[in-house]
Amino acid sequence: MKNQLPVRVTVPSIISQKGSSKKVSALTAYDYTMARLIDASGVDIVLVGDSLGCIVQGHNTTLPVNLEHVMYHTECVARGVTRALVVADMPFMSYQVSIEQAIESAGKLIKVGAAAVKLEGGTHMAETVSRLVEIDIPVMGHVGLTPQSFHRMGGNKVQGKKSGMTPGCRDKIIQDAVALEKAGAFCVVIESVPKELATEITKLLAIPTIGIGAGVGCDGQVLVTQDMLGMVENFSPRFVKRYAELGLATREALRLYVEEVQGSSFPTEENSFSEISIKPTNGVDKRINH
Ligand code: KIV
Repeated sequence: MKNQLPVRVTVPSIISQKGSSKKVSALTAYDYTMARLIDASGVDIVLVGDSLGCIVQGHNTTLPVNLEHVMYHTECVARGVTRALVVADMPFMSYQVSIEQAIESAGKLIKVGAAAVKLEGGTHMAETVSRLVEIDIPVMGHVGLTPQSFHRMGGNKVQGKKSGMTPGCRDKIIQDAVALEKAGAFCVVIESVPKELATEITKLLAIPTIGIGAGVGCDGQVLVTQDMLGMVENFSPRFVKRYAELGLATREALRLYVEEVQGSSFPTEENSFSEISIKPTNGVDKRINH
């Protein structure tokens, strides 16, 4: 396969996609191998989401994730990405305590390979966003369903269905998105809100909106990679399209492996070394010394 690697995606190049006919594509990654595959797809943004709490760690919420976890996964992902913009999520309680704490946490994520950070919240986070941007740490905002507000929301529920200025209400979400733009965020994730609201926010803002469960009116889309690949078999919400059934394919491959090991049909001669002739494989596997 011919490898045509386009130019590196940057914060300014994402901003310039606002209103463009080519929408911003984003996917999550938590490890090197998947990051390489995702980057090769031509995706614009690779997000090291705190969704790793659910996908990698097996929790029900993102709340147990800490900064060291995101740093570790960002480092792994950054090694696998040569083109896309790597954005690292700021986990719960790594930025809410003070602006100083947010600066320190964001700085650590940049040092391990992120080009930008994402944090949840609107007006109440505007000052924090503004300080991060001032010291050249680009920030992606996140409004609507903010998973770190799990307990306030009473679960991960669609937001913005009612009007009003209390958290989770339509007008408040609009105010939050506008505040993030004013504070200098370079784009905003809008999660799980009615598509009409996301479209309205997208028209209001001069920076790109990236939707998840927010309809096609946004300037871009993000999904959790394991969801769209069908690897999380017990989770298929309406907003996820499964582009593959890797859960099923993996189960079948694993079952076949166990069957073949048990029945001695693996390994074959092909998979075995011999004292007589040691034939190198294709020589691309850096983990094997012949
Ligand atoms: O943590 C995450 O993966 C996210 C995306 C789903 C937007 O915040």
